[in-house]
Amino acid sequence: MPALAIPDPSLVVLVGPAGSGKSTFAARCFEPDEVLASDAMRAIVGRDESDQAATRSAFALLHRQLAARLRDRRLAVVDATNVEAHARRALLQRARAAGMPAVAIVLDLPPDLVLRRNEARAGRVVNAAVVRHHLARLRTAVDHGLLEREGFNVVYRIRAPAELEALTVERRSPSAP
Ligand code: UTP
Ligand code: MG
Repeated sequence: MPALAIPDPSLVVLVGPAGSGKSTFAARCFEPDEVLASDAMRAIVGRDESDQAATRSAFALLHRQLAARLRDRRLAVVDATNVEAHARRALLQRARAAGMPAVAIVLDLPPDLVLRRNEARAGRVVNAAVVRHHLARLRTAVDHGLLEREGFNVVYRIRAPAELEALTVERRSPSAP
């Protein structure tokens, strides 16, 4: 698989259920300061990375940091499930306000694999019913072509685990063709 072309700067939105490998991919292909993760924000404003009660404050913080990065014209990767349309819409509005392109990278892996990886995780394991809910929301979004219609400039869909593992990104300056 060729490298994913990513405009730099841009907003990169990862989309995938808990356990699909978003954070693993982000850590491998982007710099730590570029990645804004909802779990890390939960740990800052809440008890720990899994504190669901802190969701509202965590996303408020994520959005503040995102707005600041985009204002400075620095690439930002949002590492959150983003399986709900309203979550993606709010992020797209930030990109639009900053005049930045938005790229979606969708981890649309086999459901059984995602559930297995979530169960096998060393630290935080997400309730399987929650992961199933994420999988269902993702299915709706992909099967109805929602992301393309929402206004992402590019949508990359990764369907196989081997494809995800081999994935690399190639940054493109805005002037490049
Ligand atoms: P992640 O912890 O990267 O998933 O991987 P995630 O999408 O960010 O999950 P949430 O949303 O934060 O909950 C989940 C598990 O899958 C393994 C990781 O090592 C981890 O245990 N994994 C991930 C693989 O085995 N291969 C991969 O290519 C990616
Ligand atoms: Mg994660």
